Amino acid sequence: MAIIVNEQKNQFYLHTQSTSYVFENTNGLLTHNYWGKRVEDIPSINELYPLSGINLAVADISGSVHRSTDTILLEYPTHGSCDLRTPAFHAVYSDGSPITKLTFKDYKIYNKKLSPEGLPATYTNEGDICQTLEVELFDELKQVSVFLYYCVFEEKDIITRFVKVKNNSSEKFTIKSFMSFCADFPHMNYDMINLNGAWAREAHIERKPLFVGMQEVDSKRGASGPNHSPFIALVDNDATEDSGDAFGLCLVYSGNWFGGADVDRHFRPRLMMGLNPFNFEWQMNPGDELFAPEVIMSYSSNGIGLMSRQFHNIIRKNLCRGSFRDTERYVLINNWEATYMNFTEDKLLEIADAASELGVDMFVLDDGWFGKRNTDRCSLGDWYVNTEKLPSGLDGLGKKINDKGLKFGLWFEPEMISPDSDLYRAHPDWCLHTEGRNRSESRYQLTLDLTRKDVCDYIISVLTKTLSENPIAYVKWDMNRHFSEAGSALLAAENQREVAHRYMLGLYSILERVTTAFPNVLFESCSSGGGRFDAGMLHYMPQTWSSDDSDAVERLYIQEGLSIVYPFSTMGAHVSAIPNHQIGRNTPIKLRGLVALPGQFGFELDLSKMSDEDKAASKELIKAYKQYGEVFHRGEYFKLASIFKGQNTAWEFVSEDKNTVIVMLYNIQGKVAVPDKILKLKGLQPNAKYQNIATGNIYGGDTLMNLGVFQNCNHDQTCDMLVFRKV
Ligand code: GLA
Repeated sequence: MAIIVNEQKNQFYLHTQSTSYVFENTNGLLTHNYWGKRVEDIPSINELYPLSGINLAVADISGSVHRSTDTILLEYPTHGSCDLRTPAFHAVYSDGSPITKLTFKDYKIYNKKLSPEGLPATYTNEGDICQTLEVELFDELKQVSVFLYYCVFEEKDIITRFVKVKNNSSEKFTIKSFMSFCADFPHMNYDMINLNGAWAREAHIERKPLFVGMQEVDSKRGASGPNHSPFIALVDNDATEDSGDAFGLCLVYSGNWFGGADVDRHFRPRLMMGLNPFNFEWQMNPGDELFAPEVIMSYSSNGIGLMSRQFHNIIRKNLCRGSFRDTERYVLINNWEATYMNFTEDKLLEIADAASELGVDMFVLDDGWFGKRNTDRCSLGDWYVNTEKLPSGLDGLGKKINDKGLKFGLWFEPEMISPDSDLYRAHPDWCLHTEGRNRSESRYQLTLDLTRKDVCDYIISVLTKTLSENPIAYVKWDMNRHFSEAGSALLAAENQREVAHRYMLGLYSILERVTTAFPNVLFESCSSGGGRFDAGMLHYMPQTWSSDDSDAVERLYIQEGLSIVYPFSTMGAHVSAIPNHQIGRNTPIKLRGLVALPGQFGFELDLSKMSDEDKAASKELIKAYKQYGEVFHRGEYFKLASIFKGQNTAWEFVSEDKNTVIVMLYNIQGKVAVPDKILKLKGLQPNAKYQNIATGNIYGGDTLMNLGVFQNCNHDQTCDMLVFRKV
């Protein structure tokens, strides 16, 4: 059983195969006893953490002046009584009081997975074992219930959490802060890892030891944002890829989020993740319920690598949805870096011809096909084809592309509106704005107000029409600006601070409708590249354009960074032109190809201008992708060397059936007279034999894992792909 309740000790055990998470009902107060490697029995909280030396606490637990909620490890703390640390839940009531005091009321165990309503979440497939524990906490005075949900994916070593709050009273109150996850840790000998970045430099791994005080990452931008992907981890100070404790949290949410560790005066971190409390308020009328998004928790006692693989497994099989989840997707050519908005139908068909010769599966028409869109200054919202540029219309162009043996894909930016558009002229109040304030533009555009039903309906109708009337097999769903002056014309004053979360609920309802109505269309999410690379979007769209930086060397950082949480099957990765359009670097086609290959592979350049040599290389790349895509996308990933620690990096993939092993070697800066690097492979069967398919040489699994393979680092920008088959 995954969930065990010890009635004698009032303890709740959430067991996966290798991990345990334990909390306790201590006289009505929920204490956090343990999260870590599997254990069967945990002492009570009083025995676990003696309080010698702890003082200056306000005691709200009778019998001991030291026994204060301020000094024990808590599971879901609130503000106003004796715990003076950052709360997981904070509300203000109609009498002005900011105090919530939650006491254990009841629990229920469900033999199925539960999910937060209206929000993306993990789910179970047939055969998956998942139990859910619901714990109800109750504030007697205010008649407020807080339900904590713990879903235990026993075989996957994953637990997910989300929270629901319900107003049972006849008065209204305001939520100020609402976390999905909270747990106190007994010591601070951890580093915090996060993925920080900016436009075109997403997902760079940052690792820093904890300090006393609050350390946090978040987004206040209206999207999860490129600044930080919604993920944090605490890992042992000496944890490596393969050793030490790693506690990872990944939030299934795409809007304003928060993740942090507040280390108290006794060096105990409170780890939290949920809705960003900054500029957030939610009005709770009598009977109202609100959900905090789901957090995926991945704990590993064997290092960061296993934490990542557990994330990959659940994201791939229990978060991403739809008919493309398990299939190999399309090798695509996207015309963005080939033509930008300056194209004619003939030019597009010329590129499509070259693509078809190479064996590409799909042609994607990017920005510039609608309204008067010849620059980024206009037309977002006017989703009708520009027949001056495309005289045969989308339907005609799509058919011509199909006739060349290619599928046809299309770019949209449905959440946006250009002030210079027919839509804006007709509906100037449809964008997020605040009366009396400037409507600040970013890339000459404003954000549509997705808190409004009429706006959401408009987006759904436009997409439904375009996708029904044209042979479209793929949509690139872009979102290229963040919020400013973010008010809504229809919301009352007291609801204006709900805009960011209401926007997400609107967006998710649109995505649910559109992706369900068009199950055979592959959707790829994008936000100026990886500006909304998060588990929320991946629920609806199984892949995201990882970055607008298509340079191969930069992509090594970005894709390695993303891989700490997200599987390679979720990362759009294309071969682009040289000199690279973002940073001007020249890299060989082989490097560009092998960096893109493990992701969702494609091209982003004018194929009609490609040299014969590059065409031949591209054909080989496509062949390799068709052959090994499933190893990259459904196999297990092991990081052998990190680009963040040196000039060389190596990624290993072991196929689901364990018969194929691929090692991708990349060296970005050569050095003369340095010895070869030794890379020990991981995850093989020690007694099995593996044959290098290029050389025919056979090695024992134990040899490859202990002696390793060699990487020559004498030359700049070199790379290789080694394929081993079990014999
Ligand atoms: C964003 C995307 C690009 C491209 C442009 C089009 O920047 O990330 O890939 O689609 O928009 O305007």
